[in-house]
Amino acid sequence: MGGQVHSGAPVLRKTDDYSAVRALAIRCGLEDGTFENVVMAYGYYIGEELVGCAALKRDGDRYGVEWLSVADRFRGKGMGRMLVGKIEAEARMRGATWIWALARAPRFFESIGFRVTTSDEAGGPTMSNCLLCSQYQRTCFPAIVTKQL
Ligand SMILES: CC(C)(COP(=O)(O)OP(=O)(O)OC[C@H]1O[C@@H](n2cnc3c(N)ncnc32)[C@H](O)[C@@H]1OP(=O)(O)O)[C@@H](O)C(=O)NCCC(=O)NCCS
Repeated sequence: MGGQVHSGAPVLRKTDDYSAVRALAIRCGLEDGTFENVVMAYGYYIGEELVGCAALKRDGDRYGVEWLSVADRFRGKGMGRMLVGKIEAEARMRGATWIWALARAPRFFESIGFRVTTSDEAGGPTMSNCLLCSQYQRTCFPAIVTKQL
């Protein structure tokens, strides 16, 4: 049949549909990338439609938030905050004591308890890929952010 219309509140659950995560992230303006080292992801669903997502990346003993995206029409409703909260809890469960992100929206991360740092201090990501990106300092003003868990 198909074409079923779902209404109601988005449902938050784990997802392994990384192709949907990637598609949503790209629609939300993130650059494409790989899922190398991604250990799990959460999604907000309305029926089968993914409308929000975030993934946990593990690189040695470093944990990061990646692929964080919320569909335009659902922004400002707390979904981003909830998604990052779930990723933090997963990281904590795996023994992480802090988590980082290479943030396109540093102020969003600051509003949920992260602080802007340098890559040396975080021992996490660097901005080296950003320097090659055509969006860098034009439409994207990223920062490395970190939070003690
Ligand atoms: C960044 C993003 C995930 C936030 O999702 P969201 O569901 O709208 O965020 P929330 O509703 O949970 O907002 C939480 C807080 O952050 C603030 N906030 C949200 N987006 C923000 C932004 N872009 N800049 C500054 N503050 C922001 C909200 O005002 C809110 O603060 P409050 O609690 O004081 O009201 C979403 O805007 C998005 O998908 N953007 C495009 C993709 C992107 O930049 N992803 C981040 C990659 S690092």
